Amino acid sequence: MPASIAIDGPVASGKSAVGSRLARHLGYRLVDTGMMYRAITCLALDKGLDLHDEAALAALGASVNMEVTPGPADDPDASRVLVNGTDVTNRLRSPDVGDAVSLVSRVPAVRKAMVAIQRDIASDGSVVMVGRDIGTVVLPDAPLKAYLDASVEERSRRRHAELQAAGRTESIEDVREQLALRDEIDSQRDTSPLRPADDALVIQTDNMTIQNVVDRILEEV
Ligand code: DC
Repeated sequence: MPASIAIDGPVASGKSAVGSRLARHLGYRLVDTGMMYRAITCLALDKGLDLHDEAALAALGASVNMEVTPGPADDPDASRVLVNGTDVTNRLRSPDVGDAVSLVSRVPAVRKAMVAIQRDIASDGSVVMVGRDIGTVVLPDAPLKAYLDASVEERSRRRHAELQAAGRTESIEDVREQLALRDEIDSQRDTSPLRPADDALVIQTDNMTIQNVVDRILEEV
């Protein structure tokens, strides 16, 4: 069995849903690293930092104390994140955090701090780690790396359906615009831009269900 499985991909490529099912199936811990970038973003917002002030964000990254507790084997999504002793898990999906996280996550010192914690968690093995740079930077030696992709149209449809289910009312055009902007920031940043590792299994998921993708990765396992 691979000690770690890296799953990367853009917004709404299905990586969290796939990672969750894989973790449950294999009895592995699930670490969604996007939660960590969202958690430090909560702290930056609470402190009222200027999100364009890289030095201030870098200082925050260097000093933050983050504790990530993965969920139990039968409920891998039930993970919790504490920053400086405060549990911010319930705030991670709020719109203000979603709007700010790309700016915070592009700061190298923030990434350095998060990557160190992620490697530490992964060193115990039996982990599915989901993110943008897991195969390229965090765990370049992971025995199994998957990169999930889908067209902007398909990903906008998926994200729009998710938001509607959560009672939100954004139009699909707005969702598409937001998604394209996040893609651009995530893939154009200087440090650890979003891209598949050279040895990643790239899966185009447009015409696949979540279970199809999970099954494809399990074939590799
Ligand atoms: O997957 P997500 O939407 O929760 O990720 C939130 C943000 O964090 C996203 O803008 C990209 C960033 N991120 C990152 O830069 N590196 C990771 N490994 C995971 C997320």
